[in-house]
Amino acid sequence: MAAKEGKALKTTSRTVERTKSGIPGLDSLMNGGIPKGNLVVLSGDPGSGKTVMCWQFLNEGAVNQGENGVYISLEETIDSIIFGASEFGWDFKKLLEDGKLKIIAIELYDFERLKNTVEDTIKSVDAKRVVIDPGVIFKLFFDRELDARKRIVSLGKMLKRIGCTTIITNEIALDKTVSLYGLEEYVADGVILLYHTKIKNRFIRSIGVLKMRNTQIAEQLKPIKITENGIIVLTKGQLYEDVN
Ligand SMILES: Nc1ncnc2c1ncn2[C@@H]1O[C@H](COP(=O)(O)OP(=O)(O)OP(=O)(O)O)[C@@H](O)[C@H]1O
Ligand SMILES: [Mg+2]
Repeated sequence: MAAKEGKALKTTSRTVERTKSGIPGLDSLMNGGIPKGNLVVLSGDPGSGKTVMCWQFLNEGAVNQGENGVYISLEETIDSIIFGASEFGWDFKKLLEDGKLKIIAIELYDFERLKNTVEDTIKSVDAKRVVIDPGVIFKLFFDRELDARKRIVSLGKMLKRIGCTTIITNEIALDKTVSLYGLEEYVADGVILLYHTKIKNRFIRSIGVLKMRNTQIAEQLKPIKITENGIIVLTKGQLYEDVN
């Protein structure tokens, strides 16, 4: 019995199943990927690439990993999401037709109804990946921050119970790490940061894994580039070429 318990607690990369992010170079910063079933907050300043990374994560799951996805968005219409993803070569129209992806473009209605819609939609496509972008939408449902906090934490718990690997994006100001209603403290298993870092007289986009449960993480910010095929993590040499 004791040996069994010991085994269950083991958390090396050999025992933890991991979700491939689809971003070249990112998984190696976190032991091979996001542990399956983890809830990750993706924080970044405006235009840092949060939405692109979420689309890439969903595309990777549906196209290459046999993991269907659900994308919950407030800011954009389904058509504009399909168009935006197509710019990177990701065919969301086909994924929607094939039942490998569902998009919920949220209208502001009752929060409990939203939570139920999310749960039903996940079940309807047997989704393994979920994205809520941006997480700040929850603020719009509630007058008081305490209510927003309670509800987003309860939604996070529901998503973890279902066992989906979830990314919730969080908008932060440059050089600040503001919590998403305490989600990071209470429910999130991981926090990934996207940053504009100032080097010489220009901004360099970069990424870092701040926290990831059951995972050994690289404690460095790595430069990234948004290419016509999506986000890639650059090597040192590539950064040098890029800056000079
Ligand atoms: N087709 C493309 N090819 C290369 N880069 C692109 C392309 N489309 C968008 N970008 C870059 O991606 C950036 C936008 O990224 P994204 O929308 O993912 O940011 P975000 O963090 O979600 O921003 P926000 O906080 O406004 O939601 C733009 O600033 C632009 O430079
Ligand atoms: Mg965005």
